[in-house]
Amino acid sequence: MPAMVEPTGAEALSQQLAEMEAALRSAPDQGALERLRIDYLGRNGALRRQLRSLGAMEAEARRSVGALLNNAQQRLTQALEERRSELDAVVQAQRLAGEREDLSLPGRGQGSGALHPVTQVLERIESLFTSMGFRIAQGPEIEDEEHNFTALNMPPDHPARAMHDTFYLSAKQLLRTHTSPVQIRVLRNEKPPLRVICPGRVYRRDFDISHTPVFHQVEGLWVDSSVNFMELKGVMSDFFRAFFAREKLPVRFRPSYFPFTEPSAEIDIGCLLCSGEGCRSCAHSGWLEVAGCGMVHPAVFGHCGLDAEAYNGFAFGMGVERLSMLHYGIGDLRQLYENDLRFLRQLAWGVQ
Ligand code: PHE
Repeated sequence: MPAMVEPTGAEALSQQLAEMEAALRSAPDQGALERLRIDYLGRNGALRRQLRSLGAMEAEARRSVGALLNNAQQRLTQALEERRSELDAVVQAQRLAGEREDLSLPGRGQGSGALHPVTQVLERIESLFTSMGFRIAQGPEIEDEEHNFTALNMPPDHPARAMHDTFYLSAKQLLRTHTSPVQIRVLRNEKPPLRVICPGRVYRRDFDISHTPVFHQVEGLWVDSSVNFMELKGVMSDFFRAFFAREKLPVRFRPSYFPFTEPSAEIDIGCLLCSGEGCRSCAHSGWLEVAGCGMVHPAVFGHCGLDAEAYNGFAFGMGVERLSMLHYGIGDLRQLYENDLRFLRQLAWGVQ
């Protein structure tokens, strides 16, 4: 058996260095790599210790071992950096894999909002009247007695004032009980011929299954030099037949009283549920009351500085919540304002 050849010091060193390089290149993770860096290349690492021992060597050995060590330092540093960037890439790839969005998961869904049923009905009323040539006029919700009552032919002691269940803010200021005061403002500011509707919020001290203290009305006004009751009947019948989308809907005009119109009438439509047979919803009459109307009272023209001999016109007023209840078949008006989304969602798509 040939005798084992003892490696010389230089050979042993280069083998050691090669092993160190291999260890660096196969460090399993960043922690292990860092520990090897400290062991091999650190301030008290193997390489530094070797370098320190150079001083004790002879000149020739020092030169060759010194060159070896220099070269080794470069290779080890390079191996360290290459391995470090490989391991960084692995860590990065693991992080990205963990963060990956699963695009096949079902989405959370986006609930889309809808207009409140009363707003939808209000918009429908507005669009039907504007298509008949009416313009929209608006006025303040805080009114004075003069506009809300006096100019509408209800002087201070008029009994009709008592029927309005008024919220007073002060002796003279109040929350309007109807949109008719807008009529007064329009008649005072504009010259006939004119055709307007006045949609808006009104207030009355009332709360039961068919009343809320705040509700909406649409008032209409058509003034010209010769407007007659036939036209009033025509406009209102057309409107209600279009609103309820029933061409043959019966519409009748029942004599009534409003201080600001003369003659006055209440408008009824044939019951939508029983078609006139009589049921609970129409109190077995076959008819549903939907609006008030009449020819503008000459005294109202007088209060607005218009010559009642030169002009005439008609006015009408209707409750938006009442029409909403009939349109949607709602039994209790208060449900519209309880903000129960389950209830409102059922009605959200009811009106086009
Ligand atoms: N303003 C009346 C009310 O609130 C409705 C109405 C308006 C009646 C116009 C006739 C003419 O009851």
